Amino acid sequence: MLAGKRILLIIAGGIAAYKSLDLIRRLRERGAGVRCILTRSGAEFVTPLAVASLSEEKVYQELFSLTDESEMGHIRLSREADLVVVAPATADLLGKMAAGLADDLASTALLATDKPVLVAPTMNVMMWAHPAVQANVALLAARGVRRVGPGSGELACGEVGSGRMAEPLQIVAAIEDFFAEAAGSRPLTGRRAIVTSGPTREPIDPVRYIANRSSGKQGHAVAAALAAAGAETVLVSGPTAEPDPPGATVVSVETAREMLAACRTALPADILVCAAAVVDWRPAEVAAGKLKKDGSTPSLHLVENPDILATLARSAERPALVVGFAAETSDVVAYARAKLARKNCDWILANDVSPATGTFGGDHNTVHLVAADRVEDWPRMTKRQVADRLAARIAEHFRN
Ligand code: C5P
Repeated sequence: MLAGKRILLIIAGGIAAYKSLDLIRRLRERGAGVRCILTRSGAEFVTPLAVASLSEEKVYQELFSLTDESEMGHIRLSREADLVVVAPATADLLGKMAAGLADDLASTALLATDKPVLVAPTMNVMMWAHPAVQANVALLAARGVRRVGPGSGELACGEVGSGRMAEPLQIVAAIEDFFAEAAGSRPLTGRRAIVTSGPTREPIDPVRYIANRSSGKQGHAVAAALAAAGAETVLVSGPTAEPDPPGATVVSVETAREMLAACRTALPADILVCAAAVVDWRPAEVAAGKLKKDGSTPSLHLVENPDILATLARSAERPALVVGFAAETSDVVAYARAKLARKNCDWILANDVSPATGTFGGDHNTVHLVAADRVEDWPRMTKRQVADRLAARIAEHFRN
């Protein structure tokens, strides 16, 4: 479960810091990569050398270290992990996290991270019970910070009560729980997806082209939904005004042939969703200079573009699940069935794009999922909802 996971471990200044050395060992045994930030007070309890030896990584200590910043900025350090673990989490560091302070590397990384955070608090029993600490812990919990411990028992200060840092194996279990939950909400983790989106542009001369009205909204939403479900997603898109979907790698292309080449480069994949409105024909010749108005009426000789969906669905590297779209203005399901067979795909999402529906360029879509053995009529919903439902169907498909 932890193999290949990257953990950023922040070791703050508590006597329990010695247990963090064992935690590093336990995590490494399970295949996780552990990179450590050691606070100034943490270094009073364990040495940077011990931390570096066990983690087999450089130990990060200073916010204003020129070499650290040139090799790896604090932003990158905080973002390159899958999970940030603070163990031991002292009253001081919890307070800084709650208040949003950033006066050293640890607190700055915690403020800059976009990754989930797990804290393992430790402190004196009276400190733990103090309303200030309890308020900070409640605030952090409300913000989604996860917590393991503290446990009860004899404390280093000689008092007895709550405040002992969780044992390394308890922290490991909390980390494993986190990754198990994350995998459940990201059912396509480990799958690769390619999505095409937008129109293509087929040049006539250096300034003119043939294109269509596709906005790319549906394709971009599909890429966002697949990435959110955990799939490693490559979005190959023609020119659109849509922002890049979070989590997807975007490859920008113009022509159909460039789109096909970019999809081929992105292979192999488990999932292919072709949502692009590929221009069917391109000018046979592209004029090297701008065509002049010289009184005659030029004629364009068009040749057919490659069908990206059909080409990839019949290739040796065919992804296991191939999904196409069919934009029709009548007999939507009947045409979709024919297309399913003609293009060798598994599912077609068929939609009516007659002008009255407002689908082209709009935010809503009414689609039918057409497979060889079934047709699902989906109600009118936003393109993002269509994308989420498609991602859920794809996840079900791979579960079965
Ligand atoms: O044949 P038609 O254009 O209606 O098929 C639509 C489906 O085929 C869409 O999934 C579209 O992305 C895909 N397609 C393609 N390459 C083409 C034409 C269509 O991938 N040249």
